[in-house]
Amino acid sequence: MQYSNFGLNNTKSMLENAMRRHFAVPAFNAYNMETVQSIVSAARLTKSPVIIAISESALKYMGDDMLMGIIGGLKITPTEQIALHLDHGSSVESCMHAINIGFSSVMLDFSKRDIDDNTTATANIVRYAHARDVSVESELGVLSGIEDETTKSTESEYTDPTIAKQFISDTGADSLAIAIGTSHGAYKRKSMDEKLRFDILEKIQNEIPTTPLVLHGASSVPSDLVDTINKFGGKIHNAMGIDIEQLQFAATKTNICKINIDSDLRLAFTAGVRETLRAHPDIFNPREYLLPARDAVRDICIFLIRTVFHSNNKI
Ligand code: G3H
Ligand code: 13P
Ligand code: ZN
Repeated sequence: MQYSNFGLNNTKSMLENAMRRHFAVPAFNAYNMETVQSIVSAARLTKSPVIIAISESALKYMGDDMLMGIIGGLKITPTEQIALHLDHGSSVESCMHAINIGFSSVMLDFSKRDIDDNTTATANIVRYAHARDVSVESELGVLSGIEDETTKSTESEYTDPTIAKQFISDTGADSLAIAIGTSHGAYKRKSMDEKLRFDILEKIQNEIPTTPLVLHGASSVPSDLVDTINKFGGKIHNAMGIDIEQLQFAATKTNICKINIDSDLRLAFTAGVRETLRAHPDIFNPREYLLPARDAVRDICIFLIRTVFHSNNKI
């Protein structure tokens, strides 16, 4: 099924628009009906474009038909800008599969393979995707954290600006995810002093000035959410995310046009569930704790859209 049947947009024009108007499009990860609803209602309330990011494991959890049923249920109108994006596709086949069931954008993540493998595979999926008007994100460099089980990048893991130009020209990828010091998960930094490498970003921009760039691992890990989780029985210690001001800078003053957030939404959902269950130990109707969880995810999305992405009122 082609994505346009669901009213979805591909991400190419969304990211080009963001580049031109100096904001970033949020890519929020979803994994069930509630998170899709939260993300889309945040986008609708703020008139923001939005990318619903689905990892391979989230797709497996929901199942193809269930996910596409939920997407169909959104009843997306032509005036909205909503993309459905495969996050961290691990193979060309997996990206093709996503395209065939209705995704409008895919990421092929061969960032840990050698550059020749990455180039060949990306060029292959670009050919397949572009023939179907689907956009492709690729990645150069390795994010620290879950991607490589360390918490700090070594110099060689940052994106090498000198290979970016050749890579984009050889592959035709529509956007490029870069490693400048962010990492996946809730334990990104040990101190507030750790800064993103905007010097590397500048060099990348000089090499590929028209390519929209993507920042993964960009959750800010709000301390109020962590505190709520811990207050109501959770145990999340030493969690620290990316500084909000640096994210704002990335979104509004650089060529970063798409920023990926997953952990912040997970924290919000969990805080909503924990707080409700602790306050009302007698309840056992799941709707009673899923509703505040869904609202909490919507609220963190709205907060990020307004304060980090500056994507509100951009439709
Ligand atoms: O960047 C990866 C996302 O946080 C997805 O994680 O595979 O657990 O859904 P997941
Ligand atoms: P976070 O873990 O920082 O939310 O990163 C999400 C991400 O990059 C998804 O691709
Ligand atoms: Zn990611």
